[in-house]
Amino acid sequence: MNKKNISVLSLLSILGIGLFIGFNTFNQQAIAEDIMVYKSPTCGCCKKWVTHLRKEGYTVKTKDVRDMNSIKNKFGVKRQFQSCHTAKIGKYFIEGHVSASDIKRLMKEKPDIKGLSAPGMPMGSPGMEGHRKDKYDVIAIDKNNNATVFSKH
Ligand code: CU
Ligand code: CU
Repeated sequence: MNKKNISVLSLLSILGIGLFIGFNTFNQQAIAEDIMVYKSPTCGCCKKWVTHLRKEGYTVKTKDVRDMNSIKNKFGVKRQFQSCHTAKIGKYFIEGHVSASDIKRLMKEKPDIKGLSAPGMPMGSPGMEGHRKDKYDVIAIDKNNNATVFSKH
């Protein structure tokens, strides 16, 4: 092989590496951000909610916590907005049985709020499927703890 051929080869491999890196970065942007779920080790509906998120394509990490109050205090989830589990995606908290579609919309619109909540444990919400389906609101909570309706279910 002469010198010219070698330099063409190395140029090609640099191009290849560049394309590879470019493709990978593109791929990573296409994947939704991971969700971290804090839940009580004995909570069944929390596990079902995690299953719902995974089915919708999210990469979910879970952490069993005995003192859920400390997590809610840490993320600033006031009592009136509380549910069972508390999750974190990006800068937002997700409290309770909020649907994956609401989380997708949240991450797309990126409003200036602290997080979303489905207060209490609404029957028929993701992870709370049963014989009954109640109407419930997912609310957006801003920095001053004002709640507005984010979506109706
Ligand atoms: Cu629950
Ligand atoms: Cu839960």
